[in-house]
Amino acid sequence: MRETAALMTATLRCFEESCGRPYSILDTRAACAACGNLLDVRYEWPGFDAAAMKQTWAERKMSPDARDQSGVWRFRELLPFLPPEARVVTLREGNTPLLEAPRAAEYAGLEALWLKHQGFNPTGSFKDNGMTTGVSQAAALGRPVVACVSTGNTSASLAAFASCGGLQAVIFIPAGQIAAGKLAQALEYGALTIQVDANFDVTWKLVFRMVEEAGVYLLNSVNPFRIEGQKTIMIEMMEQMLWEPPDWVVLPGGNLGNSSAFGKGLREMLQLGLIPRLPRIAVIQAEGASPLYRLIQRARGDIRKAREMEICPVENPQTLATAIKIGSPASWKKALRELDATSGVCEQVSDQEIADAKAVIGRSGIGCEPASAATLAGIKKLVASGVIRKGERVAGVLTGNLLKDPDYTISYHQGTLTYPSGPQRLPIEPHFGNRPVAVPPDVQQIRRLLERRTRE
Ligand code: F0G
Repeated sequence: MRETAALMTATLRCFEESCGRPYSILDTRAACAACGNLLDVRYEWPGFDAAAMKQTWAERKMSPDARDQSGVWRFRELLPFLPPEARVVTLREGNTPLLEAPRAAEYAGLEALWLKHQGFNPTGSFKDNGMTTGVSQAAALGRPVVACVSTGNTSASLAAFASCGGLQAVIFIPAGQIAAGKLAQALEYGALTIQVDANFDVTWKLVFRMVEEAGVYLLNSVNPFRIEGQKTIMIEMMEQMLWEPPDWVVLPGGNLGNSSAFGKGLREMLQLGLIPRLPRIAVIQAEGASPLYRLIQRARGDIRKAREMEICPVENPQTLATAIKIGSPASWKKALRELDATSGVCEQVSDQEIADAKAVIGRSGIGCEPASAATLAGIKKLVASGVIRKGERVAGVLTGNLLKDPDYTISYHQGTLTYPSGPQRLPIEPHFGNRPVAVPPDVQQIRRLLERRTRE
């Protein structure tokens, strides 16, 4: 009953307040026909009972129903856009842990730190939270072919969910610029994999209109139904924190869909009385691919002012954290809205800072891919500059699994990682390196080595 009633109030709307043009929830466009801005899914929730809802969500953890076992659809009352009879395409995504990370906290200069690890998802990244909703919407709309342009994780996730739901995925990736684990996943899950000899931004400009014109359903994070799924990362995290928001939520920013999703989820939870206040959002970009950071700098840190300005794309973005190697982020306006709403900030970090933070997360027994480590590197920098205070409650989001990019990790520990650009290709120093040790097949030598190394 509740789901049917809510569906009737789900609409698409241009996210820009000054426009706000409404569209049917069944519309397939990504941008407003009137002003070109992105769309939001909007709901009305008459008579929402926050306490009762929290109890229902908790009880569902015991249920064998596929939707209840999903860490996304368990919260379906907050994303009631599918018709009640619609099939949900789920790999039991979400359900990711919120880990205490004392070693990482100490590294960052904090008293305590929690890391919400989206790398525990079925394809190893946060994209799964958004793909279950995006692919379910594609299936409900009767769209058999779905596509994305990707730095790797989106394509791996789309490939998996499309195949799981009986749809065909078409993925466009910048040739030679995505991590090996991600490419392997896309191939294994059966996506038509098109490698374009260009970077992400150029590929995006080339194909996104063409794809829509070809009648293919686009599932990049400009798709508002992706955002609906990704906002549940915050809902699940709030439940894990017993609905007591942290002071800060920190995450890496690339195309800026996730920052937009987190802000939307948090604002809706506040509106519905699920949480008493909003945490501040901190978006962390890689130094060589930081158009949002640079825009906010130009506005002297004033987010309101930045919202009235235009972003300058970074022409030739560079970072070893290939997942966030994006110079012209599609969702920058939405992300700025969320920074505005949450008194948020944006910081940038170097490849050296990312590499060391990643190794510290590894030493914590947690591990993550390079882009995810921007979170810890950013927290450290924001603590050092006094923006985040030592005693504040901070939740960092790790967006992808350690196994996504083994080449990077091995190179770091062997001391062969270098900056991606610059005249001398400066080395990245392995401050937390852990070189493998080669030995001959000789028991005496191995014994001596063990004695030496375990005494250190
Ligand atoms: N972290 C990881 C591991 C990612 O894969 C991405 C984005 C981000 C952070 C940034 O999130 O784009 O929402 O700001 N990866 C996209 C992809 C672009 O194609 O897989 P964002």
